[in-house]
Amino acid sequence: MKNRRGFIQTTLAGTAGLVFSRYSGISAAAAQSVDSRVEILLDESLGKISPNLYGHFTEHLGGTIYDGVWVGAKSKVPNFDGIRKDLVEHMRKIKAPVVRYPGGCFADSYDWRDGIGPSGQRPRRTNFWLGAETDKSPASHKYDPNEFGTNEFVNFCRLVGAEPYLAANVRSLPASEFYRWVEYCNSPAGSTTLAEERAKAGSAEPYNVRYWGVGNESWGCGGDFTPQEYAVEFRRYSAWLPHYGQPLSLIASGPNSDDWNWTRGFFEETIRKGPSQLGRIYGWALHHYAWNLSRGRTNDWEKGKGDAIQFDPVDWYEILREGARMEDLILGHWQAMSEFDHEHRVKLVVDEWGPWYRAGSEATPGDILEQTPTLRDAVFSGMTLDIFNRHASKLHMANCAQLINCLNSLYLGHEDRFVITPVGHVFEMYAGHQGGESLRTIFSVPSVEYDRDGRPATFWGLHGSASLHGKDLLVTVVNPHTTRAREAEITIRGGSANSAMATTLSHSDIHARNTFDNREAVIPQKKESAVRNGVVVHTFPAASVTALSMHLT
Ligand code: AHR
Repeated sequence: MKNRRGFIQTTLAGTAGLVFSRYSGISAAAAQSVDSRVEILLDESLGKISPNLYGHFTEHLGGTIYDGVWVGAKSKVPNFDGIRKDLVEHMRKIKAPVVRYPGGCFADSYDWRDGIGPSGQRPRRTNFWLGAETDKSPASHKYDPNEFGTNEFVNFCRLVGAEPYLAANVRSLPASEFYRWVEYCNSPAGSTTLAEERAKAGSAEPYNVRYWGVGNESWGCGGDFTPQEYAVEFRRYSAWLPHYGQPLSLIASGPNSDDWNWTRGFFEETIRKGPSQLGRIYGWALHHYAWNLSRGRTNDWEKGKGDAIQFDPVDWYEILREGARMEDLILGHWQAMSEFDHEHRVKLVVDEWGPWYRAGSEATPGDILEQTPTLRDAVFSGMTLDIFNRHASKLHMANCAQLINCLNSLYLGHEDRFVITPVGHVFEMYAGHQGGESLRTIFSVPSVEYDRDGRPATFWGLHGSASLHGKDLLVTVVNPHTTRAREAEITIRGGSANSAMATTLSHSDIHARNTFDNREAVIPQKKESAVRNGVVVHTFPAASVTALSMHLT
C-alpha cells in the first residue's frame, strides 16, 4: 500500500459547536426566529495572531518557481527583476508575511551554492521531482537551470515585503554547508569571502535571514530518519551556528499529520541532553494534507485521492472533514510536546497544509502537482485559517502549500496569463487578522447532516474566528452547507457595533473556479449587514466564506 511516506521517499475542541452558550441575554423573540448564534467575547483573548500564520511556500517543483514566480528579466511578461509582477502586487495586497523556500522535498537535494554567482554560469541540475515529471513538462522543471536561487528569492521576498524562510539540506549536505549558507546570507558587509560574493550579486549588506528550517520531512524524503536519529542530527546542525547579531529561529522537521511517535521520539531524545536543548528550537513543523476522499475505503495514497474539480457534495464535506482534523492535530501534538517541554518553549509551525487531489485539473498541462482550486478549496482554506487563529497562542507560523501552480495555490500563472484563485481571495479577506488579538468566539449552530454512503454523517454548521485591532473587530465565518444559507445573530459580549461590512466569497455552483479565461467567476462581494439593537444579523450564504468588519463604539 502506498502512503505519503512511500510516495515521496472534528472535533471542535475548545469551541461549543452544538452547545448553547453559558452567556444568556438573547431575547425570546429572536430565539424563535434565528437558530444560529455567534458570540464574540471581547474579554477572552486567545493570544496574538502572528502575521506569519498567513505565510506561503514556494518549492522548485513543477511550475511553482519556473513560470510561476520566475519569468526571467528578459521576459515579455511584466516582471520586477525577473519576478512576475502580478504576483508581487497581489502578495503585497494580502500582506504576505513570510515565504518558505526552496522546498519541501527539493530542499534536501539542493546545494545552495548552485544558485549563486553569475546566472549564466550556474550549473544545471537534476530536479528532485524528475521522476514525477511528464512528457509535457518543460525542461526547466526537470533539469533545474538554477536561474532562481538565494539572491533572487531574497529579492522576491523584499519586493513583496515578506521575510524569507530557508530550508537547509540535512539529508545530502554536511552541517558545514548549512553554516556556510547562513554565512553567505548573514555575515556583515566585507567580512567574509561569502559576504563578498553576496556583494557581487548586488547586496553588500547582509540579508539577515532569520527563519531556517533544519531539513524537511526528515521522517521521509528528508533522510528517512527515526525521530531519535533526527533529534541527534538537529542537535548537530544547530550547534554553534554563526549568527552575526541576527538571532536565528530554527524550525525542526516535525510530524506527518497524526504521527505522535515522531513528536514524542524527537522531544524525548532532544531533552536527553537536558531541557536547555529546547531553547534551540523555535518551531516544530507539522505537515498535514487533506487527501483521502475514499470515505474510509482505503488509505492508499494514490487510490484514496479525489478529483479537484469534479466532485459531489459528499466529497465536499469529506475534504473539509479531513482538513478539520488540523484542530485535533494541533491539540494532540501540543499535548505530546508538553510531556517533555513543560513550559512550552517550542511552538508549532504548520509549514505545509492544504488539500491534495489527484492529477488532471492542471491549468498548464505538464505542471506536476498543479490543481485548479475551486470554491471548495476557498471554504477549506477559510476553515483552516480560522483554526490557526483560534490556536494563536500555540502557533508561530503556517505556510500554505503552495503559493502558485501547486496544490492549494493562491495563484495560477503561465507565461503572460495570471489568475487569482478563490484561495487567493480568502487570504485577502483574512489579511486583517494578522497581528490582531484572537478572541474566543462561540458558535451555537445546528450541524450539517448528510448521507455518507447510506450512513448518517454530520459536520459543524458554521465556524470561524475573531480578532481585534484596537476598536476594529474582524470576524470570519465559514458556512460549509452546500445548499443552505444560514441566518445568524452575532453578539459582541463586552462591546457593540453600529454597523458591519460583510465581504463574502460564494457561488451558486460549488465547483466554481477562476481560470485563465474566466478570471472573475469567484470574487468577493461587499454588502452592509443589518445591526438590530446592537446585534448583527447576517445571512451566510450556502458554501461561503465571509469576513465581517466592525468598528466598536
Ligand atoms: O508540497 C509538496 C510536497 O509535499 C513537499 O515537497 C513535501 O515536503 C511534502 O510531502
